[in-house]
Amino acid sequence: MRLVSAFILALSLVETPTFSAEKIAKLLPAETNVEKNKNVKVAVTPVAIGAEATVKAVCSACHGADGNSIITLNPKLAGQHPEYLLKQLTNFKAGTRANAVMAGMVANLSPQEMQDLAAYFANQKPALAKAKSNGVGSLGEKIYRGGIAATGVPACAGCHGANGAGIPKQFPRMSAQHADYTLAQLRTFRTGERANAPMMMAIAAKMTDAEMQAVADYLQGLR
Ligand code: HEC
Ligand code: HEC
Repeated sequence: MRLVSAFILALSLVETPTFSAEKIAKLLPAETNVEKNKNVKVAVTPVAIGAEATVKAVCSACHGADGNSIITLNPKLAGQHPEYLLKQLTNFKAGTRANAVMAGMVANLSPQEMQDLAAYFANQKPALAKAKSNGVGSLGEKIYRGGIAATGVPACAGCHGANGAGIPKQFPRMSAQHADYTLAQLRTFRTGERANAPMMMAIAAKMTDAEMQAVADYLQGLR
């Protein structure tokens, strides 16, 4: 009984709206299911606490322990939708999103560990930032809210949301993301190095560097 309560307590500490205790419990290997295996002695180390240790030991070096990276080519992960983060980790492993650094990071992670890491970062608070020069009325804002009619670029806000929060699941949160990182992603969508999102590849193919730069700067300040 004590094991069960310790387990539930630990889960409640790490619970997020999309990764409920029940959902996480279902992901545990059968032998750690204390309800079904009352006589089995297991070290009940909830998986999400394992994720925290992994973050401290590995991910924090580049993404910050709270998911707010300092280096602007490393994305902020704080507050990002967990489904999106999990998809990216899976894609790095599969190679549809080609990145040597992250491929190495995920090589030995199980689907369960990836899910826990996604939940951990989704639960952090994103640090707000400012645009360098693309504020209200800028080219960046025009592209974000209205797209580029002449070349058929759709309004980013249509999918990423008026305030950049993204529509949960498919569309990532973009507000406060580092401009350098966003620009790099738009470029890799265009070259096809990041081939995990046909929609974004089609959009980036129609954009110039100057347009990418403007909208990336705008997004950094969006809140
Ligand atoms: C050595 C630095 C480094 C470490 C350590 C690292 N990352 Fe990354 N991570 C990056 C870089 C750089 C990118 C951007 C890759 C790209 O340009 O496609 C990235 C991208 C990501 C993304 C995609 C985010 C998005 O917005 O699409 C996720 C998710 C992620 N990392 C999770 C992790 C996790 C979880 C760990 C720990 C297990 C980790 N990273 C460790 C450097 C690192
Ligand atoms: C039709 C919907 C749609 C529109 C319009 C759209 N996006 Fe996206 N965007 C997506 C989806 C879906 C993803 C997630 C790709 C994935 O799953 O890897 C994404 C991902 C991104 C990413 C990668 C985020 C990260 O953390 O790595 C960037 C950057 C981005 N979009 C920028 C833009 C910009 C700038 C515009 C406007 C010019 C735009 N998007 C318009 C659907 C859209």
